[in-house]
Amino acid sequence: MHSQTSPTKVKWCFVMENTIKVICYGVGVIGGKIAKAILKKKGITIVGAVDVAKEKVGKDLGEVLGLDKKLGVTVTDDPEELFSNIEADIVVHCTSSYLHQVYPQIIQCVKAGLNVVSTCEELSFPFDKYPELASRIDKLALDYGVTVLGTGINPGYLMDTLSIVLTAPCLRVDHIEVTRMMNSAKRRIPFQKKIGTGLTKEEFIEKMKNKIITGHVGLYESISMIAAALGWKLDRIEEFDPEPVIADRDLETPYTKVPKGHVAGLKSIAKGYMNEKEVIVLNFVAYAHVPEEYDEIIIKGEPNIHEKIIGGVHGDIGTVAMVVNAIPKVLNAEPGLLTMKDIALPSAAVEDMRIYVA
Ligand SMILES: NC(=O)c1ccc[n+]([C@@H]2O[C@H](COP(=O)([O-])OP(=O)(O)OC[C@H]3O[C@@H](n4cnc5c(N)ncnc54)[C@H](OP(=O)(O)O)[C@@H]3O)[C@@H](O)[C@H]2O)c1
Repeated sequence: MHSQTSPTKVKWCFVMENTIKVICYGVGVIGGKIAKAILKKKGITIVGAVDVAKEKVGKDLGEVLGLDKKLGVTVTDDPEELFSNIEADIVVHCTSSYLHQVYPQIIQCVKAGLNVVSTCEELSFPFDKYPELASRIDKLALDYGVTVLGTGINPGYLMDTLSIVLTAPCLRVDHIEVTRMMNSAKRRIPFQKKIGTGLTKEEFIEKMKNKIITGHVGLYESISMIAAALGWKLDRIEEFDPEPVIADRDLETPYTKVPKGHVAGLKSIAKGYMNEKEVIVLNFVAYAHVPEEYDEIIIKGEPNIHEKIIGGVHGDIGTVAMVVNAIPKVLNAEPGLLTMKDIALPSAAVEDMRIYVA
């Protein structure tokens, strides 16, 4: 858990005349969309970009983003060198879902005195699965006086933060069930790929088994975050193998054609138990042309609460917004490895970004 030790440094000293300076670390589909969103905002600017993809390294970021102008920022695969030459306030980090993979990248940013907002799913609540790595990041962030946050639409908001906020008017909470039902055909190609779109059932099972595709990552983290917010000590978290959803007719997505009988997407379920009783259930369902899209949270307690977002929240737009909107919250936050339940109440930052920074 986040250490309560006092920071050894003053974290950030904001000067209103300055713009917030961002380094984009990972400019794939989501990192690229975040960079474009930042370019449209006032009071914030991109001063550096890191990526390892051969086709991006050495090119101007404007070209990598498909813009018709240069931005004067060259994509580098050498973050160490960039950090030593460029002054920045925060890194927006979008490279991988797994903490052991991103750990050295996060550490590098922290050691350069940079705050971090990352879309790494396992960073959104790493204290249960990776207590040692989490505590090392937290300690280092405290030492360097910076904040590290993992966020996104899910994990980061729809299944965890929103559930937590919805419990606020409850005197008692007995059970929480969250369902995300989404049309994966509207999502970015890496997402459609990782949920097995277009594969045969046998290919899906084989690729999941060999971790060539991952399905959704983050149900474990969302359950851990809800439990931590409620002070629940869970006996265990059970994550079931994702089940393929088979197309009942020929389907088409911007990624691929899905013949009838092939995989249109998947269903993933995870459950948290306390005193041998199921207390949290998360249902993640994503497949091409799902008949109804929604995000639903059902809380049983005193009182019962039932919230449903009709039409659901678009995952990619939502992730981009969660990250951009988190930037001022992170700059304002105390140092350390924080989670969405620790930072200020999430909200949109629609005006000049500087006004949100204390
Ligand atoms: N929490 C959430 O709600 C949420 C939502 C959306 C996405 N995500 C996660 O965010 C991550 C990025 O998503 P995406 O769709 O943008 O993936 P992507 O298109 O594959 O982009 C990742 C980019 O990072 C580069 N990269 C990989 N390792 C790197 C390293 N060590 N240093 C610098 N660059 C590196 C990749 O290069 P190569 O292609 O050469 O590897 C690629 O260009 C994924 O893990 C995704 O699951 C989370």
